Amino acid sequence: MHIIDIITKKRDGYELSKEEIEYLIQSYTKGNIPDYQISAFLMATYFNQMTEQEATHLALAMRDSGDSIDLSAIKGIKVDKHSTGGVGDKVTLVLGPLLAALGAKVAKMSGRGLGHTGGTIDKLESIPGYQVELSVQDFIKQVQDIGIAVVGQSGDVAPADKKFYALRDVTATVDCIPLIASSIMSKKLASGADAICLDVKVGHGAFMKTEEEAVQLAELMVSIGQLAGKKVTAILTGMDEPLGHKIGNALEVYEAIETLQGQGPDDLVEVTLAIGSQLLMDANLAKSDKEAREMMNKALNDGSAYDKFIELVAAQGGDIEVIKHKEKLLSDNKVEVLSQEEGYITEMNALDIGKAAMRLGAGRETKEDKILLDVGIDLHKKIGDFVKKGDVLATFYVQDKGIEEAKTLLLDAITIGNQKKSITLIKRKIS
Ligand code: URA
Repeated sequence: MHIIDIITKKRDGYELSKEEIEYLIQSYTKGNIPDYQISAFLMATYFNQMTEQEATHLALAMRDSGDSIDLSAIKGIKVDKHSTGGVGDKVTLVLGPLLAALGAKVAKMSGRGLGHTGGTIDKLESIPGYQVELSVQDFIKQVQDIGIAVVGQSGDVAPADKKFYALRDVTATVDCIPLIASSIMSKKLASGADAICLDVKVGHGAFMKTEEEAVQLAELMVSIGQLAGKKVTAILTGMDEPLGHKIGNALEVYEAIETLQGQGPDDLVEVTLAIGSQLLMDANLAKSDKEAREMMNKALNDGSAYDKFIELVAAQGGDIEVIKHKEKLLSDNKVEVLSQEEGYITEMNALDIGKAAMRLGAGRETKEDKILLDVGIDLHKKIGDFVKKGDVLATFYVQDKGIEEAKTLLLDAITIGNQKKSITLIKRKIS
């Protein structure tokens, strides 16, 4: 087999075989194909796309380029979720302990954030002492003992995707549905769960800007997962405004704690319950959506979900006093941002609000950047709220970085009009 024939075939719009895709991935992972040829392949794929079969072969070849985690020693159905990335998305921090409190087995490997969307692992690192790295043995044992572990991705999961993604990032080929779907699914399939629910975000704060694109991505990921023998569903959720009120690592942990104590914002609770309901049914722990929601509402209100979070943090070495006194998580320096107009909030550009949080230091522009864990934005108003001139739109938690730039970004991101507007959060389910 020759790489140049594979590139030519893709360039001319033909479907690649399983063997060709496996050859390409295996040879590239071993360093036997140079980046410039894979760049040409990626660009050909960008323009000609891939069939469902090709994307599945690609996902499986990338999964098999490294270790797959064997979770069979954990009894019961192992559940997992994945979000395609949004601003203020702290669903994993709430949903993981919530499901574990209800008897589900949550063996979760999460990522770090890059750009305007934060990663669960960065958020958890804002809890002093929390260890994001566990050996596979300890990871499995913790799930056996307390029903949940949340760790960073091990270095050996889907190394081919790591190389591919780095190259896509610098060749303008990230934004390609079959490449995104196979990248996400290669890692999800290697992580070993039996049932996976994908939260596909749609809106200007998300990878997928339109519902049509989001449906395509969701359908392809569900199909790859099912062809690989897993129970996979997707829920399309809106990213027309940030999720919840708080954006930034420690701020998101703070809001997750509030939610686990039964005092979460409606939108965050709604997305959490939608995904949770699917996974409780997949794990045979609830018979219907109604039953699942009743179970989850009870666990959020009776302290059991919060207690499970404390158990998780303690098991991974985190300081639970900080969880019990959550204000300790945040920077003491605050700046208020006031509305300069009167009216209803009709739009909140989540992408730009995410960028504002990044300017304050909450996110990374490059992989090497160090993030400031205690800074970010607390939004006091959301779409549909009425504001008067001089009302506080948001509180910034700051150190000494990017305050004026972030203020401008935030004010420009918010549109104020004279008609009250509402948005739909849960758009569609795909199974
Ligand atoms: N997230 C991934 O893991 N891969 C992509 O290609 C895009 C988002």
